[in-house]
Amino acid sequence: MKVLVTGGAGFIGRQVVRELTGEGHEVVVLDSFRPDVHTSRPEPRDGLIVGDVRDERTYDGIDTVVHLAAKVGLGVDLNDIDDYVSSNSLGTAVLLKSLGRIRNLVYASSMVVYGEGRYDCDEHGPVAPGPRRVEDLEAGHFEPPCPYCGKPLTPGLVPEDARLDPRNAYAAGKLNGEHLAAAWARETGGRVTALRFHNVYGPGMPRNTPYAGVAAIFRSALERGEAPRVFEDGRQRRDFVHVRDVAAAVVLSAAALPEQPAFTAYNVGSGTVTSIGEVATELSKAYAGPPPIVTGEYRLGDVRHITASSERIKSDLSWKPAYDLTTGLTELVHGR
Ligand code: UD1
Repeated sequence: MKVLVTGGAGFIGRQVVRELTGEGHEVVVLDSFRPDVHTSRPEPRDGLIVGDVRDERTYDGIDTVVHLAAKVGLGVDLNDIDDYVSSNSLGTAVLLKSLGRIRNLVYASSMVVYGEGRYDCDEHGPVAPGPRRVEDLEAGHFEPPCPYCGKPLTPGLVPEDARLDPRNAYAAGKLNGEHLAAAWARETGGRVTALRFHNVYGPGMPRNTPYAGVAAIFRSALERGEAPRVFEDGRQRRDFVHVRDVAAAVVLSAAALPEQPAFTAYNVGSGTVTSIGEVATELSKAYAGPPPIVTGEYRLGDVRHITASSERIKSDLSWKPAYDLTTGLTELVHGR
């Protein structure tokens, strides 16, 4: 098939392009090479459109679109909010409008659409805690309590049909993109698969930018000889999934689209829950660097735990992540 990959020059995009090409597909990359991410901007060439998804254009001869182009990360402060909406929501809207006769879309979504995700209370069963209170965070109470009795909760794995509750501009934009794409699919008879990525890491991770994910931030610190700075108490839970596993999920999803319903959402995670403190410790060890410092700082837009079940994509598409975290981090640090 001929596949358009938006954001194809980015961290995940480059790996997706490699995987698609390796499987014999023809690929066209659309990437804006935004200066806050890329240091240089290449000349357009065959198979590369240097441009912004927000600019309307026609895409001829494309069978499937993989839409990865986005402004990523949590955002530095609220001054970014309009750029998130413009880059992500408007970007998706203009792309959808430009799809013409194309009917197959893979949309890069995120685990952050769930907000705090799933928790269980001994007394009240499954509950969905609201955003954490500043007073609690200031006091070092990082675990969200049961919204009914205030007792501690046990975090669990979120299924795709869980309540969606985005907590920051990036998350809101990603969910908005899912909704826009679902509306496009209904209107046109198209099909969209939204992949809700967990914390993606691996070779080619962005460096030295406040928009980078935590593994990249820790790596940059260690490369400077500094200790990784772990926010909260380091016990917040995430699922780190290797970028090659993510690329494989994208390619499988793209190939399966013609048989899929109008809208499908899949969580894409390794299946292994890890705390941020553990990731920092593993990386420090791999670099033989200083041990992490747990700072107690917090970011208001952060959720405490965000881990979901990826069983649906495993069973529907036979996707199987190949990397465990130790292997992936070792490769990242030692280049193998
Ligand atoms: C990340 C991605 C988001 C993706 C989501 C999928 C980034 C920036 N965010 O969000 O795009 O959709 O995963 O689940 O890639 N932390 C520290 N020290 C730091 C920075 C962060 O301890 O220097 C902590 C944060 O407080 C948070 C955790 O690390 O608890 C993860 O933060 P981050 O990597 O920004 O990712 P998510 O918010 O999980």
